[in-house]
Amino acid sequence: MTFHTQLERVACAVEERLDRLLAQDPVQERGPSPGGAELGQAMRYAALGGGKRLRPFLLIESARLFGVAEKDALQAACALECVHCYSLVHDDLPAMDDDAVRRGRPTLHIAFGEPTAILAGDALLTLAFEILSDTQTHPDPAIRAELVLNLARAGGWHGMALGQALDLSPERRGFSAGDVAKMQALKTGALFRFACEAGAVLGRSSPSERAALVGYASSFGQAFQLADDLLDAQGDASALGKAVSKDAARGKATLVALLGVDAAKKRLGALLEEAEAALAPFGDRAITLLETVRFAANRTR
Ligand code: IPE
Ligand code: IPE
Ligand code: MG
Ligand code: MG
Ligand code: MG
Repeated sequence: MTFHTQLERVACAVEERLDRLLAQDPVQERGPSPGGAELGQAMRYAALGGGKRLRPFLLIESARLFGVAEKDALQAACALECVHCYSLVHDDLPAMDDDAVRRGRPTLHIAFGEPTAILAGDALLTLAFEILSDTQTHPDPAIRAELVLNLARAGGWHGMALGQALDLSPERRGFSAGDVAKMQALKTGALFRFACEAGAVLGRSSPSERAALVGYASSFGQAFQLADDLLDAQGDASALGKAVSKDAARGKATLVALLGVDAAKKRLGALLEEAEAALAPFGDRAITLLETVRFAANRTR
């Protein structure tokens, strides 16, 4: 199976499971409440029908390194994708990046209004923890608790939420390249790190294997956001399914803005090599993870 077929296949499995997880309408189960159906529809709009599903893919492929079957990692992968989808909904809000197009469609607040978009984001975030706590995620409560703790840390005030705060802070205008790298490691890297570490947790890996995967995830996250920033500067809006040339207009702190396109591309090449080197301990077992970071660095969408 080629890499792209594999990515597509896993994306379909994630879509199907998310569809099931978001099908149980609590309003129906717990009795009708006016306006409640719209919240569920908005959550489905945000989570279904688009996206590369790269974070779930990384989680599943990391777990596979340790012999965990895809079906046994799918539930944790969907929890992670719920957090990612929530982060996109809030990132697009007028108070944040103020974007009107996402995944080739109107953003959630354009389609459903701001209050519903905020609440659908909140509900996707909490649903992620409901999913992780479910016995279907893993029979061992210690494993489930570790996943919950790691996701809370990755998404929260020392993780993605802090990174997003730095991305929006007025201080960003004085950021050095090192400050930008730290900010991006939080806003984007933290969820990729969770993905790879969750694979190690599910697979009960050795501490050294886990550390190698975390090293890979750290370079991956930086490379992924750098590629996103390059695509904002030079990419094609219809292929990306979102607007381009907005970072410079908003005065975002990116390596592209600080170093220029050519130096940013060089840095991307160096990060790709770092990620590849981190996978060395796994040898041929890590071929899919190797292809994943190459895809993330060279993508057009
Ligand atoms: C977009 O992430 C947000 C960033 C961290 C740059 P993706 O490019 O993975 O978005 P989808 O899920 O494929 O739409
Ligand atoms: C978003 O970064 C990172 C998140 C945590 C959502 P961007 O703001 O650059 O992502 P896009 O370009 O809107 O997808
Ligand atoms: Mg943003
Ligand atoms: Mg944005
Ligand atoms: Mg961007």
